[in-house]
Amino acid sequence: KEIVLTGITTSGTPHLGNYVGAIRPAIEASRQDNTDAYFFMADYHALIKCQDPARVQQSRQEIAATWLACGLDTDKATFYRQSDIPEIAELNWLLTCVTSKGLMNRAHAYKGAVDANLADSQDPDFGITMGLFCYPVLMAADILAFNANKVPVGRDQIQHIEMARDIAGRFNHLFGQHFTLPEAVVGEEGSILKGLDGRKMSKSYNNTIPLFDTEKKLQKGINKIKTNLLEPGEAKDPNDSTVFDIYKAFATPEQTAEMRQKFADGIAWGQAKKELFELINGQLAEPREKYLELMANPAQVEEILQAGAEKARARVRGFISDLRNAVGLVNFK
Ligand code: TYM
Repeated sequence: KEIVLTGITTSGTPHLGNYVGAIRPAIEASRQDNTDAYFFMADYHALIKCQDPARVQQSRQEIAATWLACGLDTDKATFYRQSDIPEIAELNWLLTCVTSKGLMNRAHAYKGAVDANLADSQDPDFGITMGLFCYPVLMAADILAFNANKVPVGRDQIQHIEMARDIAGRFNHLFGQHFTLPEAVVGEEGSILKGLDGRKMSKSYNNTIPLFDTEKKLQKGINKIKTNLLEPGEAKDPNDSTVFDIYKAFATPEQTAEMRQKFADGIAWGQAKKELFELINGQLAEPREKYLELMANPAQVEEILQAGAEKARARVRGFISDLRNAVGLVNFK
């Protein structure tokens, strides 16, 4: 069976980008018969970006409820919180000890933080924790603990998965063939969903449209998407439009072709946004109900996650113990 695994960092409210880039393709993949799926809340990763305990806790609940509301079937997929699996933290250390600092120096997230400091004429290391620097190692541990074959993610995560392959290769070279090299699976469109301001939709840019806002807020959010000043009747370029970008991510190919034509015919921005709202709202109305129910019932979600953690740990325990032996941490008879 092919092992599919993915996670979401619990540092904010899940948004349309998380849904399109990770949640929707992951749930689709988990419905295939030949797959074994592992989906989790990356709550250790959240601590790197967020030192607000209430925010982390709220986000863990929101992301858990989101996965379940979007149709994750816990009979088919193992669903857990990263921090409930101590074996991942243990593997993180084994991997840290074979990962070269040079590899981590090249990680986009770290480099981006250094560049931002330099641009602000700050010390390059200002505010950079070892958590941020070693972020890709923990992510490799998430993936390699389960020997995942396929990792459905948005394009922004590809480098991390390549690093997981490098780290796995290094470990295998030193200690024998233990890890499968994981592959990123990026949706056909592959593109990163744009946010309100036209940049990548991201918690850190504060330009997101939350997945399960109320209908009113969803509509308001969509109305805030930045557009150019073209008037109704003037042809608009679908390839340079966030409204079109998001529409396409939710539409069938036929609907996309129709909207492309409407752009050519000069649809008014207000009308395009209205059609975008109707399309998305139609798909989200039902899961939104389910989400609200789950958010109102944390004990039920907790029970599901406890069971998921049991399942996940049962799966990794033996493997991690083999890895301990491989590096020389063997019991004295
Ligand atoms: P995170 O929490 O930033 O994002 C979760 C998933 O959503 C995708 N995504 C997007 N896709 C398309 N358009 C966007 N605008 C957009 N924004 C986010 C991300 O690519 C990601 O797939 N490091 C990871 C979490 C993680 C993980 C893992 C993932 C931890 N361990 C192991 C896979 C396997 C992260 O911070 O994703």
